[in-house]
Amino acid sequence: MNIVSEPAQVRAAVREWKANGLRVGFVPTMGYLHEGHGSLIRAACEQNDKVVVSIFVNPMQFGPGEDLESYPRDMERDSAYVEQLGADLIFHPQPETMYAEDFCTFVDMTGLTEGLCGKSRPVHFRGVCTIVTKLFHIVQPDRAYFGQKDAQQLAVIRRMVRDLDMDIEVVGCPIVREPDGLAKSSRNTYLSGPERQAALILSQTIRFGEQLVADGETDARELVRKMTEKIETEPLARVDYVEAVDGRMLQPTDRVKAPLLVAMAVYIGKTRLIDNFMIE
Ligand code: PAJ
Repeated sequence: MNIVSEPAQVRAAVREWKANGLRVGFVPTMGYLHEGHGSLIRAACEQNDKVVVSIFVNPMQFGPGEDLESYPRDMERDSAYVEQLGADLIFHPQPETMYAEDFCTFVDMTGLTEGLCGKSRPVHFRGVCTIVTKLFHIVQPDRAYFGQKDAQQLAVIRRMVRDLDMDIEVVGCPIVREPDGLAKSSRNTYLSGPERQAALILSQTIRFGEQLVADGETDARELVRKMTEKIETEPLARVDYVEAVDGRMLQPTDRVKAPLLVAMAVYIGKTRLIDNFMIE
């Protein structure tokens, strides 16, 4: 597997591919890869001639007291997995490479970034938008792949690409789950045995919410209330938020009306997990 750590090395590879008329797909990640990431890489390999995967735990998107230091890392396993999936290049920069000591330029978004995860993670999306912009400039892909698992992030990236005229097609990919329903996440490794069991309350509540809508629930506040009540039946769970927002502006709405995003963040012990469903 070709692993590089300098932006110039990525640029050189991509320049050569593009000179040969090849289409380039890009999958940004923070590593500790699982089948959720794998589904993005697979889609990228199917739809493009060459694929770049970045692995970078981005300090800027972690708030004070969050899990930057303890975030799981395993480059050896990750690179074997990326190779097995058929991608062409891993970009694995050092933090000092991405952020000079006197770094002071940011990509900041209003509106979409203020609710949902933005409420309890106020600096998060500024960090995401800034790093993704930098990565886009370095890789210059034709297409970039993001998971519906992080629905707000996907909406934010789509908006940023549109607002700032980035010439990149953003491809959204469905949530990949464990056989018992838990959405795959690098953070699932933090869970103890009992917490892992308790974490099922997220996907169970997602299915419950989908069923309520299928059964004709039209009041978004009722939907959120019933879903919150269900999560609270799990003693190890603490709700950060459950919200129903319109799928475009991500603003709270009273009506169950497509496009709708129903999203939640729940602490299981100290671990904050997210899950969601969309009505298109
Ligand atoms: P990370 O959490 O590593 O996720 C990388 C990509 O994988 C994201 O687009 C995320 O939505 C997707 N993903 C994670 N779990 C998934 C699952 N169970 N099913 C489908 N897709 C899944 O998201 C980030 O990193 C960072 O914020 C990043 C965009 C790399 C910027 O630093």
